[in-house]
Amino acid sequence: MSVFRIEGGETLHGEVVVPGAKNSVLKLMAATLLAPGLSTLTNVPDIEDVTIMAELLRRLGCEVTHSGENISINVPDKPDHRADYDLVRKMRASICVLGPLIARCGAADVAVPGGDNIGSRGLDMHVEALRKMGAQVNNEHGYLLAECQLLTGAHISLDFPSVGATETILMAAVTARGETIIENAAREPEIVDICEMLVEMGADISGIGTSTITITGVSALTPVSHRVVSDRIVAGTWAVAVAMTRGDLTIHGVPAEHLALPLEKLQSAGAQVDSGGQTIQIRMDVRPQCIDVVTLPFPGFPTDLQPQFIALNSIGQGAALVTENLFEARFRFVQELARLGADVRTDGHHALIRGKEGLSGAPVEATDIRAGAGLVLAGLVAQGNTTVYGVGHIDRGYAGFVETLQGFGAKILRVDD
Ligand code: EPU
Repeated sequence: MSVFRIEGGETLHGEVVVPGAKNSVLKLMAATLLAPGLSTLTNVPDIEDVTIMAELLRRLGCEVTHSGENISINVPDKPDHRADYDLVRKMRASICVLGPLIARCGAADVAVPGGDNIGSRGLDMHVEALRKMGAQVNNEHGYLLAECQLLTGAHISLDFPSVGATETILMAAVTARGETIIENAAREPEIVDICEMLVEMGADISGIGTSTITITGVSALTPVSHRVVSDRIVAGTWAVAVAMTRGDLTIHGVPAEHLALPLEKLQSAGAQVDSGGQTIQIRMDVRPQCIDVVTLPFPGFPTDLQPQFIALNSIGQGAALVTENLFEARFRFVQELARLGADVRTDGHHALIRGKEGLSGAPVEATDIRAGAGLVLAGLVAQGNTTVYGVGHIDRGYAGFVETLQGFGAKILRVDD
């Protein structure tokens, strides 16, 4: 097992091109199931979750070739329709094959992923939507068994703009009979990305990027070549790293509007931010001011940057209230941050952070990908040495995490424990 050893205190500088988004590429890989033949994705990040999704697609009968930033998926005429627990338990996002499998095969048997370290993570909206579209869906022996020879379009109002449920419905609806309307749909850039790819495959979708998406079913889709949208959360993580270490960084590949609120928060914390096209420049010369954050679906503040902003607040001037509205257990990591000397109190959905002048290095354990990122950022400014355990979580979603930080001048090493 690897750990990250960090010697805190370096100021980070540099330039970086952000890779494709974890939270897009996995769904795009699943969406290729909708068309028999060879689809290609480019700007694919080199992360563990892509390897797991590739393995899942192979088990469904696809030929998957991964080379550098490209992945080619050759989908058979009759894919298998079972996603086994051994893969789903490794990666919750495997649930995203549910929609395309039922659309393509008339049936999908997908292991129920269960909860994880950030929360209970329900699937009720996915299931209800498929039932509205005419599917029979049962939960038996740990599997969601869904069946319907031809799905029918439906009017679906989501209780919450769930990213996963919006994606399941989109992929189920593109070849359903008639029109599907999703009200209160998610609007994340990753949702726009999958909609655009589905349209390139021949789907008829309107209202892309809005909270009402209309899908008119077509008889069949064709394979596609598509570039994965860049990872706004990776970009945001690097931006916070710079703000914490009082450095400067030019980030390429991510439009500033994908990060509008986090960048505004960084400006409130004292950073200078300039952006144009797909480039964001960030510079920090002062100790950050503590800033309040409330996580909400896009265009609100992303929950996937919440731990990084708690880390930032932990060394800020003053105090901040951070409210987490998506994942009830995402504050678990603050106990690890406290091991570095941070002053954080949580109460339900709220965390109160009183900024300290400095943190002190210690061994800490990452409990999920973003918690891991937050702990590394804290380690970069902590005095002395920090060892981060559980870095497998970070590898699942950040390509070349250690190498990128080293490139910025950070003293961080991956070592075998
Ligand atoms: N929810 C339900 N029922 C449902 C669906 C969702 O109760 O049927 C709840 C969830 O339990 C959660 C909230 O709704 O409390 C939001 O869930 P959502 O479906 O929007 O999230 P997701 O699709 O499970 C994706 C990302 C997450 C990211 C969220 C929000 C992937 C693989 N995961 O999860 O990414 O935090 O959207 O933006 O795309 C991460 O990258 O670290 C990560 C957790």
